[in-house]
Amino acid sequence: MTGSGGRSELPWWRSAVVYQIYPRSFADADGDGTGDIAGIRSRLDHLADLGVDAIWLNPWYDSPLCDGGYDVTDYRSIDRRFGTIDDAMGLIADAHDRDIKVIIDVVPNHTSVEHAWFVAALEAGRQSPERARYHFRDGRGTDGELPPNDWPSVFGGPAWTRTADGQWYLHLFDSGQPDLNWEHPEVRREFLDILRFWSDRGVDGFRVDVAHGLTKDPEYTDLGDRPHHVQAAPVPDHPFWDRDGLHEIYRGWREVLDGYQDRMMVAEASIHASRYPLYLRPDEFHQSFDFDLLSCHWNAKDFGSVIHNAIETAASVGSVPTWVLSNHDVVRHATRYGLPPGVDLATWSLTGPHELLDAERGSRRAVAAGLIMLALPGCAYLYQGDELALPEVWELPIEALDDPVWERSGRTAKGRDGCRVPLPWTSSGPSFGFGTGRPWLPQPSVFGTLSVEAQRGVPGSPLEVYRAAIATRREWSLAEPGIEELDLGADVLAFRRVGGLRSITNMGESPIPLPGGEVILASGPLGGAVPPDVTVWMR
Ligand code: GLC
Repeated sequence: MTGSGGRSELPWWRSAVVYQIYPRSFADADGDGTGDIAGIRSRLDHLADLGVDAIWLNPWYDSPLCDGGYDVTDYRSIDRRFGTIDDAMGLIADAHDRDIKVIIDVVPNHTSVEHAWFVAALEAGRQSPERARYHFRDGRGTDGELPPNDWPSVFGGPAWTRTADGQWYLHLFDSGQPDLNWEHPEVRREFLDILRFWSDRGVDGFRVDVAHGLTKDPEYTDLGDRPHHVQAAPVPDHPFWDRDGLHEIYRGWREVLDGYQDRMMVAEASIHASRYPLYLRPDEFHQSFDFDLLSCHWNAKDFGSVIHNAIETAASVGSVPTWVLSNHDVVRHATRYGLPPGVDLATWSLTGPHELLDAERGSRRAVAAGLIMLALPGCAYLYQGDELALPEVWELPIEALDDPVWERSGRTAKGRDGCRVPLPWTSSGPSFGFGTGRPWLPQPSVFGTLSVEAQRGVPGSPLEVYRAAIATRREWSLAEPGIEELDLGADVLAFRRVGGLRSITNMGESPIPLPGGEVILASGPLGGAVPPDVTVWMR
């Protein structure tokens, strides 16, 4: 791919800036308090102005929204709250008119309990062929009153729920999300067909939900003392994560996508970085999110090693990294970077201590981190509101919480709603321009000053810094994928892109001298030095 033909022949996703839209919270055109496709279409010019190459839409399918739409009833229809298939087609066309590609979410690990297959499985009863599409098992104990094994749900509690006739079904997430049985040929065929359905409708890519979870240990062996998660270290033969059998499935998916022009798929795989290359083999995924920055503290050494490893790992399979600083599942990075290391982010919004938060510092660092990400080789995913440096709305009242994590964690973690609060478009007015109705999650008053309207055209605002950065990035996005790490002291993250541009971030506590050269862009005021928590780009 780096051959004689020149880098302009690189596929679009290799250096793209992708903007993640959480449809429920982006813009609400019909005034019901929930974002919708018509709302997204009405705000597409914001994204065109920002300069993004693609959007990724979280699930928009028909769903009871027990997990924000990651519980799909029908993979070929749009939830009525978001619009219709015609609206979806209109959005794809509008985006393409602006040279913006469209990536949609595909959710293959589980369906909704309202999916026709699951409804049929419950009705058909024990040992029926309908049940074979899911994981139904008898329980343990004298009357089968205990779950079939010790597998836990990611959201808390056991991964099994008992049905009226006494059998149990598996759900690695909420009980409203029964896991599909990927050994079943019909399940495999169905998803190939879903990929074709949306590819035929012009979608450019797929973000594959829980890509590391589809295949399960056929013996359902207990997890025992093996770790629940596999990010910290690979766990050989884990009963439900990152199993070898997955890859055959994705090779089949890749064949389908290769039958179209320029289509891609990106894995949401919460696995150890050393396992990424398996998913990135040339006949599997085009990308796999590098999630290590999501848990990386604000310090030059840790950032540096995550970046170094990601580039090396991707290069080992001829690929480039896929960066992400925030998404709809984590505490927004403007808040993460305002908290000292050691804070348990899962519980902090509930238990505090909330005085630990330095919101201003977090916001400065968030924009500085955005410039780091945009300077790096590879593809950068922005989460809606990153361009405004929106903070986590950790103050959400308990009554407002919607995420199943709240109940399933035994009310010990508020969950992920704090990063899903509807976007502020205007400085005042009902729901800050999100829509005319009462938004499904309440917005804090600070959203007015952080709105698109308040930031547009204001030099130095996060929005203007992001816009300038994305425009400048185009100049070097076609450069070679390597970086040269520069040593400007232990607290400084500095590197040069092949092609000459340098990115310098002061992650320490005191200003550092501004190196020689032409300043192209900075995430904050410089005043002759690089102050703490600022990134500067230089030629
Ligand atoms: C992924 C999604 C998350 C969802 C889960 C179950 O991790 O990003 O939002 O809850 O899968 O589908």
